[in-house]
This record gives sequence, structure tokens and C-alpha cells, in this order.
Amino acid sequence: MKVLVTGGAGYIGSHAVRELRDAGHDIAVLDDLSRGHRQSVPPEVPLVRGDLGDAASLARALAGTDAVIHFAGLLSVADSVADPASYYRTNVVKGLALLEAMQAAGVRDIVFSSTCAVYGIPVRVPIDEDHPKDPINPYGATKLAFERALDDLSRAGRLRAVALRYFNAAGCHPDGSLGEDHRPEEHLIPRAIDAALGRAEPLHIHGADYDTPDGTCIRDYIHVQDLARAHVLALGLVSAGPAADRPAFQAFNLGTGVGRSVQEVLQAVERIVGKPVPARVGPRRPGDPPRLVAAPERGRRILGFESKDIALEGIVESAVRWRRDHPQGYGTGS
Ligand SMILES: NC(=O)c1ccc[n+]([C@@H]2O[C@H](COP(=O)([O-])OP(=O)(O)OC[C@H]3O[C@@H](n4cnc5c(N)ncnc54)[C@H](O)[C@@H]3O)[C@@H](O)[C@H]2O)c1
Repeated sequence: MKVLVTGGAGYIGSHAVRELRDAGHDIAVLDDLSRGHRQSVPPEVPLVRGDLGDAASLARALAGTDAVIHFAGLLSVADSVADPASYYRTNVVKGLALLEAMQAAGVRDIVFSSTCAVYGIPVRVPIDEDHPKDPINPYGATKLAFERALDDLSRAGRLRAVALRYFNAAGCHPDGSLGEDHRPEEHLIPRAIDAALGRAEPLHIHGADYDTPDGTCIRDYIHVQDLARAHVLALGLVSAGPAADRPAFQAFNLGTGVGRSVQEVLQAVERIVGKPVPARVGPRRPGDPPRLVAAPERGRRILGFESKDIALEGIVESAVRWRRDHPQGYGTGS
């Protein structure tokens, strides 16, 4: 199948590009390289360097395409609070430009990168897909708005769509050639590794007085390679076409179902790096729920998806390998 991957030069997108290519798909990438890295796209994969909202780039990238996997977007919760308009513009308005260009090009199938941030503060944990959606920041709100557009267009018979709601992605490609290089890096595991390696300031722990066993927040860390595999399965599901027992739009949680506290993550980093993680406990961050853990049953049942790398040690070990071998990430510039 010919698949357009938007945001395919980013962290999760680049891992999915490899996995899709290895599964025999013919891939093209659309990415403006605002945050992604050209080096993460295999040389044989055509890269259209362009903005998601640019009609000419979209038309070029969509030519001959059978399906789209849509990763491109903005994903910092803090930035979304500071500058909500840019999040609505990129994640919703430009996303709609993609959907309209798909319709113009006769492309119906889309897999979308969504997030557990659509749920807001959980009223029950583990979180299943039917949990109420009540995002508490503009990032989560824009992702939910786009999901709703996918749902409405699917009901209207214009699209067939799957939204994958990732929990916390971490780790690197098993061959060590792809990894996490967000700038600035906001995610706990790479930040803790950099602090342990003496490459970053001591880590801020945002609150140690939560109602959890060690007082720190609990999250569900999923290996990026597992996420990449899930996209191959989601593409198969969406392109299989309608079925009597399946809605045209479906969402799946992608997590392991196992929660790990901030302290557990720091201990794993310390064991693997062999050095302490300098850290300071500060006040809670507004809007941080104590626990975010996926109920992964629907994905298991319908997508046939099972996380392989559930052990935190394995995920952290792979992230440490990437950061040790690539102290400058992908290097300077895009
Ligand atoms: N990283 C996580 O833990 C996580 C968790 C939940 C959901 N997600 C979602 O997964 C997706 C990918 O996340 P990531 O960590 O790989 O992020 P990333 O920043 O590494 O990748 C996003 C890519 O999109 C590109 N991009 C951004 N705006 C664009 C535009 N206007 N036009 C064209 N390209 C554009 C960037 O250059 C980048 O390559 C995002 O949609 C994010 O919301 C990520």
C-alpha cells in the first residue's frame, strides 16, 4: 500500500516509517522539519518538505496515496497553555486542510496520533476508551477536536479513521539508529538520563505528595517500537473497510496497562546509567493527574496489539543507549 506519513521525520513517526517500510508498504513523508530531523528518514523514502496547511505540498505528497498516517502536530502541554492559538491552527485547522486534501485526492483511510490527554483528569484508572473526554489543556483539546472531526467525517461516509491514543512514548529503535530528539526535551526519561549523565540541570520532580505509593505521579510508559508496530496493525484495520460490527471511526489506547512512578523511573535510570539522577522535589504542576494508566484490552481484542517491551528496564535501557551514542541527538540543524 502507498502510505503518506505526516510528521514522519519526528520521534514516533520515524520509527513507524521504518516499521511500515519493513512491512512492505511504499512510504512517503510530509514534514516541515520544524521539529523533525531529515536524518531520521531513510534516504530511499521520498520526503516532501512542506507545511501541513500548504495545499501545494499536500497535493504533491498525496499523489498516488492509498492511506495517511498523521503524526504531524505540536505536542507540548506547556506551550499549548502559553500559545493556544498556534495549537488550534496546527493541530486542528491544518489537520482539516489535510482531510480536505485527502478527499480531493480520493484518499479515504487515515490513522491519527492522538493522546491520553483527551481524557483529562481520570475518574477511573485504568482508563478505557469510553472514559469521559474532558481535556484540561489546549493540547488535549485540539487532539480531541480533531478526533471529533474524524468521527463526523467518518459518519458522513467521507473517511475511515482510527485514532491511536498514546500514553507515554519512550525508548529508541533496536538498532540504535533512531531515537528521541525533541528540542527542548520535556519528557521524563530522556531528561532524567541527561541529568544522570551530567548533561542537564538537576531534574525537577513536580510533587511528591500525591496519593500514590511513593508520592510521585504514575504514568504508563510504552516502547516507541511497540507504538510503531501498532500503526501497521491500525493501517490494516482501517483499510480492511467497513464491517457490520465496526464503526467507521474507532479509537484505541496504546499503553502497556502498567503504571510506573517518577521515582521508579529515576531508580531505573540510576541502575542503568550507574550514576545518581540529581533531582529536586518541587511543588505539583497544575493539571497533573496522579495516575494515567491505559486499559489496553480494546487494542488487544480488535487490533491484535500487544506491547512486547513492558519492562521499564528495557525501555530505559534502550533510551540510555540512544542518548549515550548520540549526545547531540541527530546533530545540529534539521
Ligand atoms: N511523544 C509522546 O509521548 C506522545 C504522546 C501522545 C501523543 N503523541 C502524538 O504523537 C505525534 C508525534 O509525536 P512525536 O513525539 O513524534 O513528536 P515530534 O515533534 O518528534 O514529531 C512531530 C513531527 O511533525 C512535524 N510537524 C509539526 N508541525 C508540522 C506542520 N505544520 N507541517 C508539517 N510537519 C509538521 C515536525 O517537524 C515533527 O517531525 C504528535 O501528534 C503527538 O501529539 C506523542
